[in-house]
Amino acid sequence: MAEVLLENVSRTFGGFTAVDDVDLRVAAGEFVTLLGPSGCGKTTTLRMVAGLEETTGGRISIGRRVVSEPARNIHLAPDRRQLGMVFQSYAIWPHMRVFDNVAYPLQVRRRPAAEIRERVERALRLVEMERFADRPAPALSGGQQQRVAIARAMVFEPEVLLLDEPLSNLDARLRTQMGDEFRSLQKRLGITTLYVTHDQDEAMALSDRIVVMRGGRILQIGAPTEIYQRPNSEAVASFLGAPNLLDATVTGIEATPSDPSRFTVQGDGWQGVACGNQPFACGQSVRVLARPEDLRIGPIASDADATWRGEVIASVFRGARRSLRLRTSAGELHFEVPALTEARVGDMMQIEAARSSLWAVAPG
Ligand SMILES: Nc1ncnc2c1ncn2[C@@H]1O[C@H](COP(=O)(O)OP(=O)(O)O)[C@@H](O)[C@H]1O
Ligand SMILES: [Mg+2]
Repeated sequence: MAEVLLENVSRTFGGFTAVDDVDLRVAAGEFVTLLGPSGCGKTTTLRMVAGLEETTGGRISIGRRVVSEPARNIHLAPDRRQLGMVFQSYAIWPHMRVFDNVAYPLQVRRRPAAEIRERVERALRLVEMERFADRPAPALSGGQQQRVAIARAMVFEPEVLLLDEPLSNLDARLRTQMGDEFRSLQKRLGITTLYVTHDQDEAMALSDRIVVMRGGRILQIGAPTEIYQRPNSEAVASFLGAPNLLDATVTGIEATPSDPSRFTVQGDGWQGVACGNQPFACGQSVRVLARPEDLRIGPIASDADATWRGEVIASVFRGARRSLRLRTSAGELHFEVPALTEARVGDMMQIEAARSSLWAVAPG
């Protein structure tokens, strides 16, 4: 399997910069996801790797081969890049059998029948669909259809698989199931994968690393836990999950440096200890990220990093959990607590944050 390397890659359309100076290395066998809101440049980036879109700056390499570099007039055609592609719009064809769906890319290239048969069978075996070769495509479940689409992408034994929102047409349950299935297939085959989605849950569940993009630029690259727990900016913090962001001032810095650093912070009517990996100074304003699932209500625990009070203004039972909204001196906060937590609208509650759960970022 090959690595994919993007160096200072840009794409402009007229005066508009859709992808701005992107640097990214996808290691061989790695699953990397481009995540960001609609219009942030995910598809354009993927299409440049595929060769479907020309780059206007920088260099893209697949394995040891430079496939795009405008400064040297290099732009390899898509079919010379050893890639497999699965796009949302590349659904499988309902009027064909499974075999013909997978054989199609080989047939249009007029490969000999014996080679077609052998390659299709191998691709179907990879996704454990060889028994379904003669089925009409509509007789398959959504998950099976997805596997056929992947088999078709794999029929040329690509070095790299590119997927653009391949699950976004499906309902939530199927999306989760097929995402999990695809992830285990990708791990088993060890195929280098660049995946695009605007769905943060999907990105976190599937990826080795996530690239958070906004406005054509990369905001942060990291493992899902890193992106979620240690965002480098307010923009990344607020893009993942639905966090509470509290205004506070740094009042002290823990004497012995640790990773991440710990600070005492003072907010409006509350104080606590927050972690962070930026070099904050005393007196500096910060935004403190408090995840709804890390906030608890009830008695004060001796090891709590922050405590304050609030009034319950909304309480919604959701089966496994309960969503609460509390009015506090630091503004309205939302909580995700165990469903059986006793909390009625109007109750005054003591609030605490789980130890080391508060995370400080620079405002903005
Ligand atoms: N062919 C094009 N001509 C002009 N603008 C484009 C073209 N393709 C994409 N764009 C613009 O580039 C930006 C990024 O688009 P895209 O990569 O499709 O975003 P995403 O996939 O993240 O939703 C958008 O503002 C889009 O309108
Ligand atoms: Mg897109």
